[in-house]
Amino acid sequence: MCGIVGYAGRRPGKPIILQGLRRLEYRGYDSAGLVLMEDGGPATVRALGNLDRLVAAAGDDPSPARVGLGHTRWATHGRPSEDNAHPHHDCTGRVSIVLNGIIENYKDLRTELVDAGHSFTSETDAEVVAHLIEERAADGLPAAVRATVHRLEGHFAFCAVSADEPDIIVGTRHEAPLVVGVGEGEMFIASAIPAFLSETRRIVVLDDGDVVTVDAAGASFSDIDGNALEREVSEVTWDADAAEKGGYETFMLKEIYEQPQALADTLAGRLTRAGEVDLSEMGLGDDELRRLRRVFIVACGTSYHAGLIASYAIEELARVPVQIDVASEFRYRAPVLDAETLVIGISQSGETADTLAAIRLAREAGSPVLALTNIMGSQATREADAVLYTRAGLEIGVAATKTHVAQVAALLLFTLALAHARGTLADDERLRIGRELHDVPRLVQRLLDAQGDDGHDGVRRVAERYHDERFFLYLGRNMGFGVCLEGALKLKEISYIPTEAYAAGEMKHGPIALLDEGSPVVVVATDSPVFPKLVSNIEEVRARGADVIAVASEGNTEIAELSEDVLWVPASDPRVASMLAVVPLQLLAYHIARIKGFNVDQPRNLAKTVTVE
Ligand code: AGP
Repeated sequence: MCGIVGYAGRRPGKPIILQGLRRLEYRGYDSAGLVLMEDGGPATVRALGNLDRLVAAAGDDPSPARVGLGHTRWATHGRPSEDNAHPHHDCTGRVSIVLNGIIENYKDLRTELVDAGHSFTSETDAEVVAHLIEERAADGLPAAVRATVHRLEGHFAFCAVSADEPDIIVGTRHEAPLVVGVGEGEMFIASAIPAFLSETRRIVVLDDGDVVTVDAAGASFSDIDGNALEREVSEVTWDADAAEKGGYETFMLKEIYEQPQALADTLAGRLTRAGEVDLSEMGLGDDELRRLRRVFIVACGTSYHAGLIASYAIEELARVPVQIDVASEFRYRAPVLDAETLVIGISQSGETADTLAAIRLAREAGSPVLALTNIMGSQATREADAVLYTRAGLEIGVAATKTHVAQVAALLLFTLALAHARGTLADDERLRIGRELHDVPRLVQRLLDAQGDDGHDGVRRVAERYHDERFFLYLGRNMGFGVCLEGALKLKEISYIPTEAYAAGEMKHGPIALLDEGSPVVVVATDSPVFPKLVSNIEEVRARGADVIAVASEGNTEIAELSEDVLWVPASDPRVASMLAVVPLQLLAYHIARIKGFNVDQPRNLAKTVTVE
């Protein structure tokens, strides 16, 4: 999730743009840059690393420029580097763009532009926009931007400036945020309100397909065909802290509501609407995938749960045996590894000490290693033979949420690619599951929308009933077992309530003794071949007087009679249901912790990244 900032006004733009970028640091970044429209033409500065590096590179000399753009980059296409940092330029250097989002058809556009004589200076998807605008520069910047948008697929927002029209900024959005700030004799444009909230509270939020032309005097709006549009100016009431959280009360809640975007970004350019998977970027070819005899997953905490969930799908769909272990155990046992065992190290931060040590051990034993991480350039990416990125954006809340669902989505992409390479799944079934996966971002959005403004329509109601409980038991089977482990971990780490999670069939071998009259038992019971088995487990706990809170698929007519509360999720194929079923469990933990008044973003005793042994 990159950050865009633009300014056109009566004051020198450099300090205002740098301040705006500083305010967007929470969006995360690995490099940054800015372009200032000076008399001699666009003056660009880019820097790898944190914003201080850019500020240092930009220097203290005041620039007279009153128009400019800035950008903080969260790499998705092209590793973090100065060349890949934004702004990107056209061949003449007169057009500059900054972009947030993903251009899914950039490879085809790049080939076409190179054939037309354009030369590229970065590995990014975004640079194609600058060259497409160059193709239509004679029509003027607004028209060139509109023509460019017609060529793009994906979800993006971008702003462009041109030396031919140095007083204006043209911006547009398509399924990525862009907002205009209305000042006195000056205008602002940015990915998020915090960038200019200290300057103005008067804003215009662009709709998808809007194209805005901004100069010091104001803004004009059109659609991508050039038809003029009227857009309302509204007043923001948030304070700076709330603004950083996008209007949510905490980063964790913001990140729970960012899951549809995290999923869409992680699937973008890798999964077509028809269900075809392309993971060529991963660096593991079909031959290598066919040679595999075994997969061994190593990870910690929430990442381990994502691996466990995927392990069921890998075995079922790709017919490759999977072993999985927590990294802190794996590294001190004597795992039997060989060149035909692919070790998958999962770590959202890419810096967790135990997982890094496990990866090193695997490599020393001659096993190929695939790292699944959310952070480009993280240590795990340097230690692995192949890398697959989730694209969840920076996660600030210590309790992982959006990175978890993105991990499961990425691992299911891997599973479908593996099944395809090994021919273990009929094409129509593989494509059907691919289409179900492609639809998950929409279903998660629907699930979140159903929660109602303050969550009262959904999970919060249940949280209010059980927030005083002193113990919870979570049960699940198959992939649902991984989901219940994750749900229980969320409750433990932010509400501090003792919680057990068990494979439902294992419960009668001991933990059932923990149950009392009214004990809350959360059961992950979404539609799947093991649902009938779960019904008998539910009857076992009800026989001990426990209260059942079931996570179930819409349309299930049986579960309501068996439960005190049902947390409904959209129905889906069992292999993708885990990304839906975990959401109400994240919210249950969240609302219980909030009702108890705990700081969910920074729980006690926990760090976001565990770099100690
Ligand atoms: C999850 O909410 C916790 N923050 C923790 O269990 C975390 O998943 C674990 O430390 C692994 O972190 P990683 O994915 O960055 O390696």
